[in-house]
Amino acid sequence: MAYIEFKNVNKEYKMGEVCIKALENTSFEIEKNELTVIVGPSGAGKTTTLNILGGMDTLTSGSVIIDGKDISKLNKKGLTNYRRNDIGFVFQFYNLVQNLTALENVELATQICTNSLNPSDVLKQVGLESRLNNFPSQLSGGEQQRVAIARAIAKNPKILLCDEPTRCSRL
Ligand SMILES: Nc1ncnc2c1ncn2[C@@H]1O[C@H](COP(=O)(O)OP(=O)(O)OP(=O)(O)O)[C@@H](O)[C@H]1O
Ligand SMILES: [Mg+2]
Repeated sequence: MAYIEFKNVNKEYKMGEVCIKALENTSFEIEKNELTVIVGPSGAGKTTTLNILGGMDTLTSGSVIIDGKDISKLNKKGLTNYRRNDIGFVFQFYNLVQNLTALENVELATQICTNSLNPSDVLKQVGLESRLNNFPSQLSGGEQQRVAIARAIAKNPKILLCDEPTRCSRL
């Protein structure tokens, strides 16, 4: 059994009469310690897939088994714990807290999870040791992205999900 099993997943967004099929019978498996890249055109369902894997969106049908557990069957508390301790997520548009510094943004994430790494050390690893006390608006796009990457890594998660972590432009 693979560490991640994404099985026959369908995700539909219903907007009045219109039904958008974001994912249609999507299946894949990922082993432990594997680096996987999902590629596809804009609107193909990459973000939807990552959001479901990260426990941030629900699926319409199918199953998502992580380490033998079906996360689509977790209750609210189970999902919160899963997101808190198992998942590190680098968002497509960073989602930094604007009135917190780079260091505080990373500390905020590490304070709520077990087994986290030292925030300053991780920011140093991404080359931001001289930007710890800057707010996001005082950082370049790439620097903000590195804070977002540090925030995800510092949780020391079991699964690191990165939504276009090397794209620098904001649409
Ligand atoms: N909340 C939503 N409500 C309705 N439709 C949505 C919603 N979120 C995504 N979609 C639709 O689902 C499809 C997949 O979207 P998704 O964001 O997963 O694409 P993507 O592959 O990440 O694209 P991009 O490369 O542009 O980021 C798109 O057609 C999108 O319009
Ligand atoms: Mg996307």
